[in-house]
Amino acid sequence: MELVRATEAAAIRAVPWIGRGNKNAADGAAVDAMRKFLATVEFQGEVVIGEGEKDEAPMLFNGEIVGNGRGPLCDIAVDPIDGTSLTAAGRQNALSVIAVADRGTMYNPKEVFYMDKIVAGPAGKGIIDLDRPIADNIKDLANALGKDVEDMNIAILDRPRHEKLIADVRASGAGTELMLDGDVAGGINAALENGRIDMCVGIGGTPEGIITACAIKGLDGVMQGRLYPRNDEERQNAIDAGHDLNAVLTQDDLVRTDNTFFVCTGVTDGGLVRGVNRERNQITTDSVVLRARSGTFRRVTAVHRSDKWLNDED
Ligand code: FBP
Repeated sequence: MELVRATEAAAIRAVPWIGRGNKNAADGAAVDAMRKFLATVEFQGEVVIGEGEKDEAPMLFNGEIVGNGRGPLCDIAVDPIDGTSLTAAGRQNALSVIAVADRGTMYNPKEVFYMDKIVAGPAGKGIIDLDRPIADNIKDLANALGKDVEDMNIAILDRPRHEKLIADVRASGAGTELMLDGDVAGGINAALENGRIDMCVGIGGTPEGIITACAIKGLDGVMQGRLYPRNDEERQNAIDAGHDLNAVLTQDDLVRTDNTFFVCTGVTDGGLVRGVNRERNQITTDSVVLRARSGTFRRVTAVHRSDKWLNDED
């Protein structure tokens, strides 16, 4: 629960940058705030997925130790803003995100930027399969959900690389929900039972894939991913680092423990959480906290006093 203070802080600090066209400033403000609050959390976290390598990222760099130095040894993956471009443009669906798991359990394929992913809720167990045509995945999941294919809604990042995938989904009879950015929220929405989205598919960031896997464990959902190198250099670097580029990785390969935590706070309004709302004396944040071991899904609405935030005291 303490972790949620760090995503709340990151989201609140990003607010002045919403719609200002400066995604680095938005990200920088969120990173600073998240780091400051993480320092108060009782754990010894090592950033496995952060803002990049030490020399390029002044804070929350890969390998950085965060937390108050007491408590459990953990791996931590941070995305202070998933949807920096959305934030800069003033668009919906930007989130601040943290995932935590036991130390040494998060997969870390830092050589490969993209991962091909497929995510669904509990009904997708034993059904979804990255190696099968998308139409078969949709038909069988629809069957398991007791729905018509025509009522299935498939989330996909709106990218030219997904032109054929989008056409195939539509040809199957299902509909698409095309996302401008933010496939962590897309994956979670797909895993939520009785949600608007039934499945999230396509190529997105590898770090976001690991973060999504932590959340999927909390939702008892199902996920598969396969590394998707952008070019020959990435392919070779991945092979040299010992990665099997053909391997279909499940959520248990991406995070090798069931002791995971996931928290996110809305920066701007979205289907999963509302964005930060500022009124005269109050700032309201909307967050989700998932604890895989207990399977608890918490919604946390927090009302912060604006004067405390002006003085940097929260
Ligand atoms: P950032 O805001 O952290 O840049 O990520 C946004 C995002 O849409 C992710 O959710 C997604 O996994 C990735 O970018 C997709 O990458 P690309 O924009 O290169 O297709």
